[in-house]
Amino acid sequence: MKNIAALLFLTFLTLGNASAQRENVISEESKVPEYKLPDVLTRFNGKKVKSEKVWLKKQRPEILKVFTNEVYGKVPGELGISDVKVWESSEEALGGLARRKQISLFFDKDDRHLEVNVLMYLPKTTEKVPVFLAYNFTGNHAVFNDPAIRLTESWVANNPSVGIINNQVTEQSRASAEDRWPVEEIVKAGYGLVAIYYGDVDPDKNDFSDGIHPFFYQQNQVSPKFNEWGSIAAWAWGLSRVADYLEQDPMVDAKKIAVLGHSRLGKAALWAGAADQRFAMVISNESGCGGAALSRRKFGETVRIINTSFPHWFCDNFLKYNDNEEQLPVDQHQLLALIAPRPLYVASAEGDKWADPRGEFLSAKYASAAYELLGLEGLPAKEMPGINQPVMGTIGYHIRTGKHDLSLYDWQQYIKFADKHFK
Ligand code: GCU
Repeated sequence: MKNIAALLFLTFLTLGNASAQRENVISEESKVPEYKLPDVLTRFNGKKVKSEKVWLKKQRPEILKVFTNEVYGKVPGELGISDVKVWESSEEALGGLARRKQISLFFDKDDRHLEVNVLMYLPKTTEKVPVFLAYNFTGNHAVFNDPAIRLTESWVANNPSVGIINNQVTEQSRASAEDRWPVEEIVKAGYGLVAIYYGDVDPDKNDFSDGIHPFFYQQNQVSPKFNEWGSIAAWAWGLSRVADYLEQDPMVDAKKIAVLGHSRLGKAALWAGAADQRFAMVISNESGCGGAALSRRKFGETVRIINTSFPHWFCDNFLKYNDNEEQLPVDQHQLLALIAPRPLYVASAEGDKWADPRGEFLSAKYASAAYELLGLEGLPAKEMPGINQPVMGTIGYHIRTGKHDLSLYDWQQYIKFADKHFK
């Protein structure tokens, strides 16, 4: 019952605002306009990139700068963790199979305070363990059926069917997203799961008076400047701060953090991986427009649609590209190229046309040029692989049956991919 309710809620999230604008949406391959993509190995000044050195010293920083200024927005300042509180830890989680740890990271500036709750399940070993670090949509208590998990006190989008009323969760909300988080499989495979709620860093609403943004305002400023961060960049910033903490945690191998996200949180994971090279692996689960999918294809969700439905996700400069994708100096395959040489996995679902599976595949394919320049195998597929036929080089990709979701099948591939690159 809970799962059905959660499903309805997610469908609402997915279809919500965007449905009104879907009339002219391209959903057939034959309707995709002709487009020309910027070449990953051609600089903005027209010169070709032929060496690793030029890639690392020139091309990569130049591409990163364009994404920063034109798409996601720059972080306007620096702020580290002020304090860490350990709420509890246990050696008896999952019937004794795992360690559980719950901590809060505090961020303080002037009279502002932010608390980010971190829930960890770790395999019980004496060695430091590699981890999957991932945001969730409704709070850590929704991830797993464990009464010891603290209920989030943060603002959460209402969903009475899973007990989220007046933007607060209740006991009824526990485990409502458990289908997305196969904690036992993850731990048994030798990985930890580090779970955080994205609303702790920035509530997902078009309101820049809450979350982390106001920490950096100058006097009388009420929203970020045109080239400053939207919510995706704020969520990515939060992932980096959790990485700061993980570097200090004696149980975690911070050199093996796989940052993972589904959908809007996949966009955040990609941007986190691009902006912060400490993330050793990046996994984009159905991240779609503004994530892994190529914008110039205009298939499914477009730049105009996303900027209209979610005006707070990107920086205001991104508005310039509404119905004007051709003028974007970059496309999303270059975002993926910024992850090189680190392993990158891009996943699509057959029933998730909104996210443009083919655009996600092509993006991964064209990003391969950067990996190859660095002497690595990019994506080992020239054509889109069949349904449920994952391919795994340094870039991995699959399109699976089913709808827009983070499923056990997806996790099984991510675990294999992590085994390939982390073990
Ligand atoms: C909407 C939005 C997508 C986003 C998705 C999600 O469908 O249009 O861009 O990825 O929500 O986060 O679930």
